[in-house]
Amino acid sequence: MFMRIAPDVPDLGHAPLPLAPYTCDDFFRGERDNLFGKVWLNIARGCELPNPGDFVVRPVEIRNASVIVARGQDGVIRAFHNVCSHRSAKVEWRACGNTRLFSCPYHAWSYDTQGRLRGVPGEENFVGLDKATNGLTPIACETWNDLVFINFEREPRQTLREYLGPLADYADNYPLQDFDAWVHVDVGVMNTNWKIFLDAFQEVYHLNYLHRQTLTDTFKWRENPDGEPAWFQTFGPHRTLSLGYNPSQGGAPMASIAQRYASDITSTGGSALVNARESLDGRRTGINPAGIDNWALDVTTIFPNVVWLVGSDSAIFHKIWPIDKEHTRYENYSFYRKPKTPSERFAREYSFGLFRDTIVEDILNTEFCQQAMKAGAKTEFHLQATEVSVRHHHHHIRRYVSGEALA
Ligand code: FES
Ligand SMILES: [Fe+2]
Repeated sequence: MFMRIAPDVPDLGHAPLPLAPYTCDDFFRGERDNLFGKVWLNIARGCELPNPGDFVVRPVEIRNASVIVARGQDGVIRAFHNVCSHRSAKVEWRACGNTRLFSCPYHAWSYDTQGRLRGVPGEENFVGLDKATNGLTPIACETWNDLVFINFEREPRQTLREYLGPLADYADNYPLQDFDAWVHVDVGVMNTNWKIFLDAFQEVYHLNYLHRQTLTDTFKWRENPDGEPAWFQTFGPHRTLSLGYNPSQGGAPMASIAQRYASDITSTGGSALVNARESLDGRRTGINPAGIDNWALDVTTIFPNVVWLVGSDSAIFHKIWPIDKEHTRYENYSFYRKPKTPSERFAREYSFGLFRDTIVEDILNTEFCQQAMKAGAKTEFHLQATEVSVRHHHHHIRRYVSGEALA
């Protein structure tokens, strides 16, 4: 096997795994209560809320929640349930904006950006209403490296830093803040279990086959003829897979030109890679942990539902939100440096196009997998050694669903 595995990765065995977690109602309820109800979830980025009064409203369907994330007038980012204290109407209907007050459309109770109840029309007619204890219900909210996380436990058992553990130590200095441009796409609802879609970002076994039209021979070369990942390491429930690229890749003529000026999902790019190495010098953490010469990118999973494609001059976040056991909302954030020349702009547009085409292949395929599983023909699935990331993901989901991780 070409792939190397960090020595401290626990042995997770080689046995087939049960298919039931993809299709079973009880397992989904376990994920809702013991996983998505207990761990830190990335909900936004600080750069989306640069000014006091800035807010975003985000659904977390598996928790039946609408979440307001707001930067208060005091500069602190907080999260709240988007539910009115009067009679539980949905308070804020805009997806984002800047405000001093959130005003409920039903009877116009209003709350400031720190969640405090400020205005109650006809207040004198309420008997014993304590405004001080009837603000918006807070949700635990903490930030790491400009990524804003929430936790639905009223008193989370771990701080965000503790939850991220060695992943935070490793990627603390990843220069996310250097990327001055971003695209946020709420791609939509897919007819698939969230894990089926996420699994597709955990292994590269399928790249040579499902993506043979889009990714061609990008990830295989003479010493790595099967296109395996180069490196795998874990950080508790989180993990990183490093991919190398084919150093002698001819590729399509367009691809070769584009990759000279910017990274795409197959490569850190030619001059872009050199520039990134220079700019990251001295604080180069959070990328390429094994120091691979022909490093393309890292696939870092922030457990449970964020897959972060870590490049030297771009960072792509796949955010995969379960709705029910067979529906999933897929949200994508791409961060990069603003193109400075027409060539860089062309390369960036090329990158988006390639990315879109590849993702469409994944979406269609995973929806067909979900459909096929429902026939009940199979009760288990198989993983080869280079698919160890999928095994690691399922291992930690089981630990939460069973309660073992919460003990
Ligand atoms: S439900 Fe919000 S003001 Fe009445
Ligand atoms: Fe894929």
